[in-house]
Amino acid sequence: MSDRLFIFDTTLRDGEQVPGCQLNTIEKIEVARTLEALGVDVIEAGFPVSSPGDFQSVVEIAKAVSHPTICALTRAVEKDIDVAAQALKFAKRGRIHTGIGTSSYHIFNKLNSNPDEILDRAVRAVKYAKRYVEDVEFYCEDAGRSDNAYLARVVEAVIKAGATVINIPDTTGYCLPSEYGAKIKYLMENVSNVHKAILSTHCHNDLGMATANSLSGVINGARQVEVTLNGIGERAGNTSLEEVVMAIKTHHDLPYHTHINTKGIYEASRLVSSLMNMPVQANKAIVGRNAFAHSSGIHQDGVLKNRENYEIIDPADVGIKESAIILSARSGRAALNHHLGEMGYTLSKEDLDDAYSRFLVMADERKNVNENDLAELMGDHELETQS
Ligand code: KIV
Ligand code: ZN
Repeated sequence: MSDRLFIFDTTLRDGEQVPGCQLNTIEKIEVARTLEALGVDVIEAGFPVSSPGDFQSVVEIAKAVSHPTICALTRAVEKDIDVAAQALKFAKRGRIHTGIGTSSYHIFNKLNSNPDEILDRAVRAVKYAKRYVEDVEFYCEDAGRSDNAYLARVVEAVIKAGATVINIPDTTGYCLPSEYGAKIKYLMENVSNVHKAILSTHCHNDLGMATANSLSGVINGARQVEVTLNGIGERAGNTSLEEVVMAIKTHHDLPYHTHINTKGIYEASRLVSSLMNMPVQANKAIVGRNAFAHSSGIHQDGVLKNRENYEIIDPADVGIKESAIILSARSGRAALNHHLGEMGYTLSKEDLDDAYSRFLVMADERKNVNENDLAELMGDHELETQS
């Protein structure tokens, strides 16, 4: 089994469903081009039957982007599939992503149906989509809460009908990593034709476990991971692209690899945040403002001695110039000396002790201390002459 992981980005579909985050076609094309430059394998461009605007966006993205596969979402409904196929007509590589709910909640309460009828609808949808495209992905909605034996029956039947990728969404973000991993393992071991398709993870973050669940899925046999930039998406969001990709890159003990150009991650994250008017939380892994900022004295001293003491990722690897040493009342002498050195001051031990005492008073008053504050602190202390 290959260790290549396919990155399926759904920022423009699941991510764009977030209230207030809607983009126009031009903005979506900008995001799609950025995703292409980042090296994602599949861009889920939209849900064409949902609105004329979404239809048009899928058409334009398919024209603008040439390397990634362009995917369009549908329900297991012929009309949806017809419209998706039309929207994909300019795609170099088009994929229809169809599916239906497979948990008891969805089968009985939402679809008012029964397991045999759902299985039949699933197979019919895949066969119908195959009339248009070779590449058909099938999602078992709410797979996270679906019975594994029934899920295996559906997966086997849709692969037989021609599905090339099988998506196992934890739609409600309910699973624990061990549980989600066991589900993928069960399918790998109990679906006789599973080797004819790729299993995909699609995890929501309701319990904060989307990335852990996705990685657990990969370790147990999934080879496609569905993600969004900054982890945006319905409710608490989806698995975030940057977290999965950097976890794999950082853990040399894991055999997997992706084709993502990680140096483009930070810029892509900023673009999505600004176009969608959706701030990234300061402590967000990889792309948050504080992800590479050190503020306590002990950590600052350690990082200044050797950044690997407290950093597991080189910020340059995700396109961030350098980590930050924040000056606050929790900073130590080493951090103050570092900043003063960068400003051109060379201080004796006594002068540094004196500056540090005054700095602590200032930092208690002002919370964070910047270069202007430091210049004020140093008053007319002589700057080192530049040669
Ligand atoms: O979370 C989910 O189940 C989905 C499917 C529509 C793929 O987004
Ligand atoms: Zn989803």
